[in-house]
Amino acid sequence: MKLDKNYNKLIKSIDNLVTNEVPLVSNLANLSKILYDSFEGTCWCGFYLCDDEEDAMYLGPFQGPVACTKIPYSKGVCGACVTKKESILVPNVHEFPGHIACYSLTNSEVVVPVIKDEKVVGVIDLDSTNYNNYTNNDVLALEEVANIISRVF
Ligand code: SME
Repeated sequence: MKLDKNYNKLIKSIDNLVTNEVPLVSNLANLSKILYDSFEGTCWCGFYLCDDEEDAMYLGPFQGPVACTKIPYSKGVCGACVTKKESILVPNVHEFPGHIACYSLTNSEVVVPVIKDEKVVGVIDLDSTNYNNYTNNDVLALEEVANIISRVF
């Protein structure tokens, strides 16, 4: 599903689901499943959580194959997202210098920062075995999701 039609419904349901009444990990666990199911062609979807003391991020809740557990800010699409503090859409991961191939069948990827008090606290990462799987519309939707979940970090 591309989000054009169901964009508002998805965002609204996520807005209703995310709550400060449970730990962060519980919110992210459900969200990883919702995002995995909502973005067609996704083979891996999850969160990496920032640790500024380590200059690295650690694997959070996810859906899909086993993934890298620690990514330095200097590495990969996720690292570029944190250091540039912006979403990164990668139509072909094989053309992205330094891409980390956690899952060898991935061909495209999108990573969106979660920003709290002007700091990146984590990222949302979606991978696909398709080339060009994600659109700018998907990025906009994921940025709205990131904005919603920033309130429970
Ligand atoms: N490909 C990412 C690493 C995380 S996995 O895709 C789950 C990157 O280059 O940062």
